[in-house]
Amino acid sequence: MSKQLMAALLLRMASYNGSDTRRIDHALKVYGYAQMIGGNEEMPAPVRANLLMAAVLHDIGIHNAEAKYHSAAGRYQEIEGPPVARAILEELGVPVEMAERVYFLVGHHHSYTQVDGPDFQALIEADFLVNIEEDGLSKESAASIGEKYFRTESGKALLSSLFGVSAE
Ligand SMILES: [Fe+2]
Repeated sequence: MSKQLMAALLLRMASYNGSDTRRIDHALKVYGYAQMIGGNEEMPAPVRANLLMAAVLHDIGIHNAEAKYHSAAGRYQEIEGPPVARAILEELGVPVEMAERVYFLVGHHHSYTQVDGPDFQALIEADFLVNIEEDGLSKESAASIGEKYFRTESGKALLSSLFGVSAE
């Protein structure tokens, strides 16, 4: 994936979110942690590219979910996210076979039992790291999330350095 494509995707994510800087910041943070985890775990370059695109777009369905269902709950975001992601990726000319996996990840990023690849695993870890911080979760909650959902060495290392919990 070219740097130009990622820059265009980030800009598009920001413009889609308009003045909602909280959502833009969230996506940028998840993207940052996805880079750290994805860059330190074994995965083929196209898989890493899918991870990074999904990290930027994972919550893109929130505005439509709030408008339609008056809720930002995970299940509504999973319904509303993929069509928006599809429109954005088509607009940017992302190849279909790549885009399909990104829609899937956007549509399943709260379905933690369905993790089926290193891109999905890294995405949920990156999102949890940001959500633990943004939601001000207790050390106990962070520890239980780590135990249940963290699998990668780099994700566990971040959980430990950021929140002082070890996930073994
Ligand atoms: Fe998120």
